[in-house]
Amino acid sequence: MKTILVTGGLGFIGSHTVVELQNIGFNVIIIDDLSNSKIRVLDSITEITGKKPTFHKIDLRNKETVKSFFDTNSIDGIIHFAAFKAVGESVQNPLDYYENNIGSLVYLLQEMRDRKIDNFIFSSSCTVYGQADELPITEKAPIKPAESPYGNTKQIGEEIIKDTCKANGLNAIALRYFNPIGAHDSVKIGELPLGVPQNLIPYVTQTAAGIREQLSVFGDDYDTPDGTAIRDYIHVVDLAKAHISALQRLLNKENKNNFECFNVGTGTGTSVLEIIQAFENATTQKLNYKIVERREGDITSAYADTTIANKELNWKTEKTLEEALKSAWEWQENQK
Ligand code: UFG
Repeated sequence: MKTILVTGGLGFIGSHTVVELQNIGFNVIIIDDLSNSKIRVLDSITEITGKKPTFHKIDLRNKETVKSFFDTNSIDGIIHFAAFKAVGESVQNPLDYYENNIGSLVYLLQEMRDRKIDNFIFSSSCTVYGQADELPITEKAPIKPAESPYGNTKQIGEEIIKDTCKANGLNAIALRYFNPIGAHDSVKIGELPLGVPQNLIPYVTQTAAGIREQLSVFGDDYDTPDGTAIRDYIHVVDLAKAHISALQRLLNKENKNNFECFNVGTGTGTSVLEIIQAFENATTQKLNYKIVERREGDITSAYADTTIANKELNWKTEKTLEEALKSAWEWQENQK
């Protein structure tokens, strides 16, 4: 049985990926510093899978602790989620973002190099494309200057991994996520935003639940059919499964280059107003919303061309937008 280290394994995407890994028999070790997650997620994962993953509370910025973790654990592959992810916060505190997101990555890669551990999956983001010139976005689209320090950590992260693959023979895959939403069918794990949500779907569900008074729709004067911005919203369970496919590609040595990147989205763009409509249809909730000014830094439209990911990863999305929105709502209701 292969042992996979999942950093940030108690977070939103990490926890769903741990469930999928355990479901197909991988032995999972989680590292998480609980800075943006709750320890009770470990129990929720255990309830879903019937098996408790090994857990270590480690801050990956602590090089010595990282080293001693690897001294005592034998690892066959790493899925690296642990990172700060709030775009606005990264603009306020860039150094925290560079220290955490880049520092932890470098320490992990150094341990992999020194101990000859192979197989690395990196959480990247469609943010690397900025506003792409052509839609849907393929993996060949040029990388645009980052809009935020957060986005920059993803770009720099990919470069660091690429250089390491070249110099040290590591095999790695960067998955460029579009917009992950929804919750596990069991409704035992989901997204746990701290404070006021910055992302659309948690804001939508909290508004429907009466925690927020009104949803602000940021701009209706974009060059899109209804004037609101378009994104590619992917069910988090589909996204989690893409990690399993990528990991198996590396473990089975099916990768074509030692550094590869894939777009992980649905291939369909949905506007903010379409999301509101779809949410109301899927849940029979009525959403109180108003149109406000554009949010600074937002792009008009981003959705994935998933042809390469579908073919190379032998993976495709299985869940609908309605299922994703319904599960997000059930998860919200379950938080009472
Ligand atoms: N939106 C609203 N109201 C809200 C929140 C969001 O109208 O209260 C709109 C945004 O303007 C945007 C869309 O909903 O058009 C989606 O916004 P999110 O914040 O949910 O997602 P983003 O696409 O802005 O952000 C995502 C990831 C980031 C990543 C970024 C790159 O969450 O990690 O894509 O573009 F950096």
